[in-house]
Amino acid sequence: MEDRILSGEQVGDDSSVEYSLRPQRLSQYIGQEKVKRNLEVFIEAARMRNEPLDHVLLYGPPGLGKTTLSAIIANEMEVNLRTTSGPAIERPGDLAAILTALEPGDVLFIDEIHRLPRSVEEVLYPAMEDYCLDIVIGKGETARSVRLDLPPFTLVGATTRAGLLTAPLRDRFGVLSRLEYYLEDELQTIVMRTADIFEVEMEDSAAVELARRSRGTPRIANRLLKRVRDFAQVKGDGVISQSLASQALEMMQVDPLGLDHIDHKLLLAIIEKFRGGPVGLDTIAATIGEESHTIEDVYEPYLLQIGFLQRTPRGRMVTHQVYHHFDMEVPE
Ligand code: ADE
Repeated sequence: MEDRILSGEQVGDDSSVEYSLRPQRLSQYIGQEKVKRNLEVFIEAARMRNEPLDHVLLYGPPGLGKTTLSAIIANEMEVNLRTTSGPAIERPGDLAAILTALEPGDVLFIDEIHRLPRSVEEVLYPAMEDYCLDIVIGKGETARSVRLDLPPFTLVGATTRAGLLTAPLRDRFGVLSRLEYYLEDELQTIVMRTADIFEVEMEDSAAVELARRSRGTPRIANRLLKRVRDFAQVKGDGVISQSLASQALEMMQVDPLGLDHIDHKLLLAIIEKFRGGPVGLDTIAATIGEESHTIEDVYEPYLLQIGFLQRTPRGRMVTHQVYHHFDMEVPE
C-alpha cells in the first residue's frame, strides 16, 4: 500500500503515543453515543450480577475506536485485556493456548476477527457458548475428544467487514455494535483533547479545520494534528492557528473534504479511464496499484458515505458531485 497519511490503518511507529491518547473510561470517550449508552447498561448489569459481560462484536470502518472501546470495556469491568488478531491465530492450538491462559472474567480482544481460519473458528464456538474447549488427543483409531473447562470470559471481536463473518460466529455474540463515522463537532472535541495532552496551543478554528478534513475518523484527526503540530513547530511559532493548519493540510495534499491523493487517484481513474464507471473493483485496484480489499475496507467506505461513489451490480460509479468537486464538466 502506498504511504498515505489518511489511511485508517494502524501504524506501528507511534503506537505508544497513540496509546496514551486513548481514553481509558467510557465517560472520557467522545462520540458513538448509542454504542456507549448500550454498553454502559450491559456493563453495569454484568457487574451487578458478578458475571462476565456477554460477547461483543464491534464493527465498522477502520480508525473509529474499536480497539479503544475493547480496552475501555476491560477497564470498566476491572479485568485484564488480552489482545490478538484473526490472522495471528493460525491453528486451533494457538487459540487453545490463549484461552487456557485467561483469568476469570478477562476480555479477549480479537481484531480482524473475520480473518480467523475456519478450523480455529470451530474451536471458538463451544468456548463462547459454554466456556469449554473440545480437543482431540491422539491420532487415528486411538484418537479421542476431551472437554476442557475454561474460565468465563468476554470475547470482544472487531471487524471492518461484518458481512464476511460466518453466521454461526456472528450469532454467538450477545452485543453487536456498529461504529459510525464521527460528527464534525465530536472530532473537534477529540483533537482539542489531544492538543491538551500534547500541551500545544491551538485556535478553535484550527480544530474545526482539522475535524472537517478527517473523514469522520479520530485516528486520522489525531494523525493530522501531529503533522500540523510539526509544521507549527518548524514553520511557525508553535501555535496551531487556522491559517497554519490549512497551509499544512494543503502541503500534505489533504483537500477541503479530507480527501487525499489516493482518493483523487481513485476517483480520477474512474472518470478518465472508465468514463465515470461502472467499473469493477479489481479493475480499479489494478489501475491505481492498490489492493482490492484495501480499497474496499479503507478508501471506499467514506467515499460511499459522502455520496461520491455508488456501488452498482456492474461495479463502482462516480456521482456528479465528484465532477463538481474537481471543477470538471458533468458528462451527458
Ligand atoms: N481519541 C481517539 N478517539 C477518541 C474518542 N472517541 N474519544 C476521546 N478521545 C479519543
